[in-house]
Amino acid sequence: MKNIILVGFMGTGKTTVGAHLAAQLHVPLLDMAPLIETTEKKSIPQIFADHGEAHFRNLERALVQQLAPTHGSIISTGGGIVLNPDNLSDFAQHGLVACLTATPQTILQRVRDDQNRPLLAGDKEKQIQALLAQRQPLYDTIPFQVQTDDRSPQEIAQSILNEYHQQFG
Ligand code: S3P
Repeated sequence: MKNIILVGFMGTGKTTVGAHLAAQLHVPLLDMAPLIETTEKKSIPQIFADHGEAHFRNLERALVQQLAPTHGSIISTGGGIVLNPDNLSDFAQHGLVACLTATPQTILQRVRDDQNRPLLAGDKEKQIQALLAQRQPLYDTIPFQVQTDDRSPQEIAQSILNEYHQQFG
């Protein structure tokens, strides 16, 4: 099986939907944020605080290069991987890239109590708006878009599987 790679802004449900896909297909879920935390032995906020965002993006890029050529997994990416277009093209070469989307209101509801996302520290609503304004054109370059508002993880996983079977049989 080729990889299924879930891309999208924070709070679009990548990890939740990824867990459903992985359980259904009996394949591993590779979640980039925890993988980076394990290798660095630091939480994501601590990596940002100690070394800055640019360093985090380098770690993320190195992990994409490691994961992209593999097969047989569901990969839940970090919301910022679209900032480097090479990340998307590397993943797209070897699997199905699905971009999960949600309205800013839904995103805010889903991340309201989260403390593990340094880019949303402070006024979450403002941060979400500012980051989405910057990144929307990048997410929009992904051909397969999956809307997640008011849909269950099972329904979303099924849409992704249908697309996978259409593309790869
Ligand atoms: C980030 C998203 C996070 C994590 C880091 C930065 C981003 O991943 O990589 O906090 O820039 O959007 P999730 O999308 O899994 O929350």
